[in-house]
Amino acid sequence: MTHQPEQVRILLTGSTGQVGVELLQTLAPLGVVYSPGRARLDMADAASVRAAIREVRPRWIVNPAAYTAVDKAESEPELAYAVNRDAVWAMGEEACRIGAAVIHFSTDYVFDGKGTTPYVETDATGPMSVYGASKLAGEQALAETGAAHFVFRTSWVYGTRGKNFLLTILKLARERELLRVVGDQHGAPTWSRELAEMTAAVLGRCEASASGGPLEELLREGGGGSPVFHAAGAGETTWYGFAVEAVRLMQERNPEVRFAEIESITTAEYPTPARRPGNSRMNCNKLSERLGWRMMDWKDALREVVSEL
Ligand SMILES: NC(=O)c1ccc[n+]([C@@H]2O[C@H](COP(=O)([O-])OP(=O)(O)OC[C@H]3O[C@@H](n4cnc5c(N)ncnc54)[C@H](OP(=O)(O)O)[C@@H]3O)[C@@H](O)[C@H]2O)c1
Repeated sequence: MTHQPEQVRILLTGSTGQVGVELLQTLAPLGVVYSPGRARLDMADAASVRAAIREVRPRWIVNPAAYTAVDKAESEPELAYAVNRDAVWAMGEEACRIGAAVIHFSTDYVFDGKGTTPYVETDATGPMSVYGASKLAGEQALAETGAAHFVFRTSWVYGTRGKNFLLTILKLARERELLRVVGDQHGAPTWSRELAEMTAAVLGRCEASASGGPLEELLREGGGGSPVFHAAGAGETTWYGFAVEAVRLMQERNPEVRFAEIESITTAEYPTPARRPGNSRMNCNKLSERLGWRMMDWKDALREVVSEL
């Protein structure tokens, strides 16, 4: 009788979210994916996170679940910290107990947005919002547990599903005559599917190198000392630029439809409860150099997404 290697067990959180729904697809060929919903894995309750990990005993925990309501977080800091920090701490501790590795996601909002050049992973953080601070606290908590892990910091996530800027703009552009969109925040949109494909490629590469053995050393080597990587669409734009390009692509496909005009406004003209960084640009060289993944240009990704709508 030949010995069949045990299938890799992957615990995926947040599988109803933008990135999670894509991860369900991209991780499937790599092992058995467990994706308990909120009822069985409630990120607001660290005990529930621990119980789910003890039950599944995964080799990998992939965690795109997060409290992502940036403005609402200003009035719900306890919940934001419970989900974005405390649950991640629990995940890291449990991962250590069973020798699992964690893939976690974070955000450009850990930075203060000053300056005009793309951020590198070693740049000083300085979140301007509760959301950004809670996500940074999650990164730090995970590191403190000593768990083998990657953190992929991304920005402006969108895709064909979920609540995102692209779908909102395209809907409003059909309904209204004029849209006023912020033009002084600089960054890059990131396609949820590309993030999920990159994550699966990294996980697959680690598994191929580890061939069933421990992951800790491998992840340490891959990270080159630090497990934090920037992973955002290549190139840069503003929310205004993103909206203009999205509507232009949609207009190409629907010449008969009359879409709204788009006007650029300043952040000051569009006050929100949470402050947002003016500079969200991220330098993703480390991701391509160490992990072999070069992010797509945001315009190419957007064209693909719009073609799927
Ligand atoms: N969206 C962005 O623009 C953006 C930008 C930078 C970084 N990120 C980061 O990228 C990652 C993925 O973001 P995303 O856009 O995919 O987020 P999303 O679409 O808002 O999805 C969040 C996921 O987390 C789950 N979740 C929230 N609270 C939970 C709880 N208490 N218990 C269990 N599950 C819970 C949600 O479940 P329900 O469906 O049940 O609510 C959903 O599946 C996150 O770490 C986020 O911080 C996102």
